[in-house]
Amino acid sequence: SEEPGLVVLSNRLPVSRVGNKWQTSAGGLVTALLPLVSTRPTSWVGWDGGSHKLPEKLPGTDAGLVGVGLSRADVKAYYDGFSNATLWPLFHDLVGTPEFQRSWWEAYQRVNRSFAEAALKTGEELSSPTYWVQDYQLMLVPQLLRAGTDAPVRYFLHIPFPAPELFARLPWRDQLLRGLLGADTVSFHTEHYRRNFVRACALLLTDVTVRGRDIVLEDGRVVHTQANPISIDTTDFAEDARSEEVTGRLQRLRRQFAGRRVLLGVDRLDYTKGIPERLLAFERLLEDREDLHGRVCLVQIAVPSRGDVEEYQRLRDLVDQLVGRINGRFTRPGEDVPVHYFHRGVAREDLLAYYLLADLMLVTPLKDGMNLVAKEFVTVQHAALSARSATEGAGALVLSEFTGAADEMPQAYLCNPFDLDGVSAVMATALSAAPEERRRRLDLLARRVRRHDIHAWAERELDQ
Ligand code: UDP
Ligand code: G6P
Repeated sequence: SEEPGLVVLSNRLPVSRVGNKWQTSAGGLVTALLPLVSTRPTSWVGWDGGSHKLPEKLPGTDAGLVGVGLSRADVKAYYDGFSNATLWPLFHDLVGTPEFQRSWWEAYQRVNRSFAEAALKTGEELSSPTYWVQDYQLMLVPQLLRAGTDAPVRYFLHIPFPAPELFARLPWRDQLLRGLLGADTVSFHTEHYRRNFVRACALLLTDVTVRGRDIVLEDGRVVHTQANPISIDTTDFAEDARSEEVTGRLQRLRRQFAGRRVLLGVDRLDYTKGIPERLLAFERLLEDREDLHGRVCLVQIAVPSRGDVEEYQRLRDLVDQLVGRINGRFTRPGEDVPVHYFHRGVAREDLLAYYLLADLMLVTPLKDGMNLVAKEFVTVQHAALSARSATEGAGALVLSEFTGAADEMPQAYLCNPFDLDGVSAVMATALSAAPEERRRRLDLLARRVRRHDIHAWAERELDQ
């Protein structure tokens, strides 16, 4: 076809191998990009996830899948190591401790080269392709592509860009900045992250000039920077929320949780998400409010993630222990436990039913680039609003100040996740808020998300 094509590059492909079948991958990047692959001819380049034969096309679409194979040693050093034990904690304000290892850095360079090569090869099969590089695992790719093509190269960072003082700790900081500066446009969720990046360039690179939002390189090439918060396919989520399948599951959950208010957490099991802190705040609520015993419960869905990285294993143990302690302290004879904990992913229909069931959605990361769960929750709740009676109210969003989403969601019940008393107090306030008040907030939140949905986001990324 003559339509301009798109080569998407991300470490994680939209499908992953679970047991003996392919499943949609977890995480915000995939949720956001998946609805876009049908809007133009697309090839998606990513890690093939092992020895299984990847389907040639993304099931149900025309999008091609191009697998990049990684050796076991590369997975350990590039994925577990440099991506998730160096960059991830460093870019999330050190809520985990980054490790710096030269062998990991070498693997990162090597793997970034294989991604760039695979992308250039598949790009040759498309007419006037745009290369669209995603996230922190591939920060060197823009520069590598720039050396091999004149086609447009766009880059989007799905996680925060830290303050330059933190970024400066990285032994290979200049190389990463130069890697990104291979793109024509480098894009971030928020103005704050964008400014951190530009300041890092100005501070650490002597041969660049900052001109407004542009960075001018020594050879005169101009790199544009922008803030463009990622979003979701609101139409899709709203439609699914009203489907029979979801309504049926919701009814079953309502019977199961009758007589209790439901607080909900949905996260990958990641230390940036503040899950232990959330459990402690819930424990404090139960300590302070005996009247709530047996009348509130917390459902925590924790999707397994990066289980070969040590800090994630420690987190898993800590969460197991806290859930056990709280249930041990507060379960009453013959009654249900206060914390329902799932260490697994759930089907989309179940996820939406839980969003609809929840009185409070607890999104309390210590640091998060954006957080799409917050946007999904308000969208799904809002879609069901018209079907509810006015006295029924609506679900409320408790949201950490340290998420990118907080920028766009001032009507949420904002909190500092490090302040356990504060979070526990916000939970109590949101639980007792009048139905009209909760509806008013939800309405404003959902409208804002709908105005800047994933299609608006993609247009700003690509059509310039
Ligand atoms: N999610 C999922 N499987 C589940 C539960 C949730 O894939 O069992 C999705 C959720 O719907 C959301 C994404 O995972 O789209 C999480 O994105 P978010 O931006 O909140 O955080 P991230 O995981 O990207 O850090
Ligand atoms: C975050 C990252 C994505 C990543 C996702 C899931 O959203 O920004 O790049 O794909 O988490 O993590 P995983 O390591 O399983 O790909």
